[in-house]
Amino acid sequence: MCQPFSSITPEIYSLLYSKKDYKSEFDLLCSYMSQPVQFGNVLEAGAGTGTFTSLMKPYSQSITCIEPSPQMASYLLKRFSSEKIRVENTSIEDYLDVCDFDFDTFVAYFNVLNYIRPANLSKLITRLASYTSKPLHCLFDLWSLEYVMEQPKEGSTIIKFPSPGSLSNSPQITRFASSVFNNDDESLSILFTFNSGQEELFTETHIIYPTNLSKLKDNLKKLDPHCIIEPIACSQDSAAKNMYSFCRNWLVSFTISP
Ligand SMILES: C[S@@+](CC[C@H](N)C(=O)[O-])C[C@H]1O[C@@H](n2cnc3c(N)ncnc32)[C@H](O)[C@@H]1O
Repeated sequence: MCQPFSSITPEIYSLLYSKKDYKSEFDLLCSYMSQPVQFGNVLEAGAGTGTFTSLMKPYSQSITCIEPSPQMASYLLKRFSSEKIRVENTSIEDYLDVCDFDFDTFVAYFNVLNYIRPANLSKLITRLASYTSKPLHCLFDLWSLEYVMEQPKEGSTIIKFPSPGSLSNSPQITRFASSVFNNDDESLSILFTFNSGQEELFTETHIIYPTNLSKLKDNLKKLDPHCIIEPIACSQDSAAKNMYSFCRNWLVSFTISP
């Protein structure tokens, strides 16, 4: 399967989410942490262009960014040349096979874990639980199965934004999204087509695996009776309101004790 984010350059990704209010979302996430906020040694899955990483940095001892897209990973390496931040160009599943686990916080923010199958998510949580030798606070967001089922099985959404820098020949780039729900494995395939004027720039296919949140909660309660799964309103500008990713995210917060 083609890896998502293989065509999206960091430049285009930054443009797409230039109006996303990461700071408010970060503050919201911090409200799920013990106060005063200290992330300690962080394992961050799917760091993307590192916006969340940079917000966590002042509150962290170290951050290990896991990013499977080679383009995003090399962008992260250039962006953060600090000893505090390490970048690994791999998936979170593969990284857990090889890491020396010494983390206080696991973060995967903005639809990262929807790219892995729910069964693999359960395995990932089991592995986090078996590795940690100290309390590990896990914070991530997910789409629910119910929400994905509500999505149009076919349809499209258009996002327009100004394109500066090397994309400045075109007044704007348009992103078309059309989705197909696959009943067999309950996945949602989203085909994104990026156009500049009349010209098609590239396409990307993203396969999202929605999670059955009540099942997840039952499993998490065995690890942490106080686990939290609750809806969060992710901020976006009104033009992007209908986009696939944002409106109905659920925040998952729990602590694994060794
Ligand atoms: C929507 S982006 C979020 C990026 C960043 N966290 C942010 O808030 O902007 C999802 C990211 O997850 C990464 N990703 C997808 N599958 C992954 C996996 N199996 N392990 C780790 N990261 C993954 C993608 O490459 C992409 O950078």
